[in-house]
Amino acid sequence: MKISVIGCGYLGAVHAATLASMGHTVVGIDVDSSKVEQLNKAMAPFHEPGLDELLKDGRTTGRLVFTTDFAAAADAQVHFLCVGTPQSKTSDTADLSYLMGATKSLLPHLAKGAAVVGKSTVPVGTVETLRAVLARRSDVLLGWNPEFLRQGTAVKDSLVPDRLVYGVPGGKGAAAGAPVTAVLDSVYEPLICAGIPRLVCNFATAELIKSASNAFLATKVSFINAMAELCDASGADVSELSEAMGLDPRIGNRYLHAGLGFGGGCLPKDIRSFRAQARELSVPSVDEWMGLVDSVNLDQRSRAVEVAREMCRGFLSGRTVTILGAAFKPDTDDIRDSPALDVAQQLAAAGAHVTVTDPKAINNAWIRYPQIRFEASTKRALEGAELVLLLTEWDEYVSLSPSEVGTLVRRRMVLDARNVLDAEAWRSAGWTVRGLGTGASVVAAENGEAKRADRKKHAAR
Ligand SMILES: NC(=O)c1ccc[n+]([C@@H]2O[C@H](COP(=O)([O-])OP(=O)(O)OC[C@H]3O[C@@H](n4cnc5c(N)ncnc54)[C@H](O)[C@@H]3O)[C@@H](O)[C@H]2O)c1
Repeated sequence: MKISVIGCGYLGAVHAATLASMGHTVVGIDVDSSKVEQLNKAMAPFHEPGLDELLKDGRTTGRLVFTTDFAAAADAQVHFLCVGTPQSKTSDTADLSYLMGATKSLLPHLAKGAAVVGKSTVPVGTVETLRAVLARRSDVLLGWNPEFLRQGTAVKDSLVPDRLVYGVPGGKGAAAGAPVTAVLDSVYEPLICAGIPRLVCNFATAELIKSASNAFLATKVSFINAMAELCDASGADVSELSEAMGLDPRIGNRYLHAGLGFGGGCLPKDIRSFRAQARELSVPSVDEWMGLVDSVNLDQRSRAVEVAREMCRGFLSGRTVTILGAAFKPDTDDIRDSPALDVAQQLAAAGAHVTVTDPKAINNAWIRYPQIRFEASTKRALEGAELVLLLTEWDEYVSLSPSEVGTLVRRRMVLDARNVLDAEAWRSAGWTVRGLGTGASVVAAENGEAKRADRKKHAAR
């Protein structure tokens, strides 16, 4: 089947390459010509494990090409819309201008009876708005197929997804939805034959499934981070608490790891868009709930800065601070709404001399944050540090040797804001270690006073 994928970013490039690997002939279309050029050289324009190989396969078989020209989509039977839906600059709502722009550009090239299927994350009602754009083309099928891949494991998630969701006119069992269901079944035939669950529903449900899933994940992270604050106030240890909670199969341990919280190009903007939808639909409880989840998440960043300040005996100004991690999470170079860079900025604003290192995200980061010093080499970044902050839990940082790092820094103090280091091993090597919510057990004796002050502060709230 000939398929076009419109928008070749973190989602679209992976989707296009996955479809080609399933045997389809795919044209990826993007307005960014440098991205298109790189993709045509079978080089991922961003870091995503396994994507280069998948792009190379597509190039070798001749089934995958990229272009900026929408006319190349003319003979495709299915068009997947994968453009960005970022948060609007002026409100919580999603900016749908890229989606509308892409659909309008596609419109003159749509073959008779072609299917237009959205994959971007959108608020309820978006499909109806798109239908209006396509109003004069009653022959065109419309579907919504939300995407659940995660950056860092996107290739695996696309090749073996947890589920397929089809939003179709009229929903499950409706005659009006049968043609687009049949088209999507042909697209995903290998996955359906492999037994991947596939759910058919109406448009509003398909739009909400993605938003509700992200809202739930964000709730889980903020819940455990709220527990972390409680642990800090009481002397409990949130890592032990979450481990024990997660063993209950009704709860599960995924997304139940306390730390610096979530960021990236999806979760933060999606929960804000969800709030805006709830307000529009007059469901204030969801709006309030998501507001709390968002603020607990953002508070983690200020808490990390406060703990860093305590560790520096109240004064950040003039301190040499090294930050391990710039990406919003490991295994990606994406720095959109990165908690690590937010903390870096706050520390720099407080007068600290901040150096940030990251295995993959430095190039993206230094363009956006010229006021921060970036250093590609972990070793050079650590030299002379008075405080080290682990803010993105890349494997190579988790496995650092505390004794070797100890020979590079000026003071052996680390704030493990992702609660991933072996605190005992680091303390044995002479380090003062603090986490977020890890209570008294990881606080070295010399910091006992700061800890007690911290507890008093929380108790007084
Ligand atoms: N990144 C993820 O992990 C992920 C997962 C699931 C869903 N999503 C959703 O997928 C959508 C895309 O996210 P992303 O992370 O890939 O964003 P992205 O910014 O990486 O990619 C969007 C791409 O669309 C291109 N584009 C913009 N306007 C265009 C137009 N008119 N025509 C053609 N191309 C155009 C941009 O140049 C860019 O390459 C969002 O709605 C997001 O919420 C993302």
